[in-house]
Amino acid sequence: MDRKDLLGIKDLSKEEILEVLDTAKEMKKILNGEKYSQILKGKTVVTIFFEPSTRTRLSFEMAAKYLGAHYGNIEVATSSVAKGESLIDTIRTVEMMKADVIIPRHNMSGAPHLMAKYTDASIINAGDGINEHPTQALLDMMTIREKKESFEGLKVAIIGDIMHSRVARSNIWGLKKMGAEVRVAGPSTLMPPQIEKMGVKTYYNVEEAIKDADVVMGLRIQLERQKSGLFPSIDEYREYFGINKERMKLAKADAILMHPGPINRNIEVTSEAANAEYSAIEEQVTNGVAVRMALLKILCERRN
Ligand code: NCD
Repeated sequence: MDRKDLLGIKDLSKEEILEVLDTAKEMKKILNGEKYSQILKGKTVVTIFFEPSTRTRLSFEMAAKYLGAHYGNIEVATSSVAKGESLIDTIRTVEMMKADVIIPRHNMSGAPHLMAKYTDASIINAGDGINEHPTQALLDMMTIREKKESFEGLKVAIIGDIMHSRVARSNIWGLKKMGAEVRVAGPSTLMPPQIEKMGVKTYYNVEEAIKDADVVMGLRIQLERQKSGLFPSIDEYREYFGINKERMKLAKADAILMHPGPINRNIEVTSEAANAEYSAIEEQVTNGVAVRMALLKILCERRN
């Protein structure tokens, strides 16, 4: 991988994805071992999150620290952003403090792309609006790869608020490149028009989508991104689209269940299913650290 930034999965090649996944496998050994290396010695990593986050921000921090980098975080609510400073001035300020990698999350699609143009630091997109969440898709692909022999022909059912999900978009780009068959299912009001153009099969019936799937991936309902009128009732959603043990029985016998988190338990996924032996949800969190270690390593080595 020879690029300054990681902005999305859309423009990555299959080879680049495999390089990240192979590196992440190596990084997981450090993570499961002494949790310390000097790979990023002398490098500085800064996160700046304009939207809430638990696992993504913390896993970038852990990844940076496990590899021996300096780490800083901008608290947006108490930063000069709250005084009206522009995105570009903010990013220039962080670069001038010698940041090597800057990791933004923003509610506007394209914000990291804009930032990348105005800084020599490497930008890793930690989620931009409804557009992309590349590190999530990479950790999801890592998790699938650990459980399944190959992506080729794998049936992956992504279920829920497809319209507002950057996780769905990044996974569709990635999984299609790797040769998987991707199905998307959800209420018609939460299905983006022309989603089939991304090469997926659309379902409005969750059972049909889950039938014979190798991977079932739930999504959070993105209430913060929805305009009114898209979502009549939580109870109805649970009844028609909620993932539960009975529905999981329709998938392949060795199917796995995934969810990027945070879960609205008993709405998108029942607790029973989320805690079942086929659930890979907690493993996804661990793999998130490994994938972010891998990306920091790859981007920083290129900077050297
Ligand atoms: C996702 C996100 O922020 O897009 N969360 C995450 O990073 N694990 C999914 C979500 O918030 O629904």
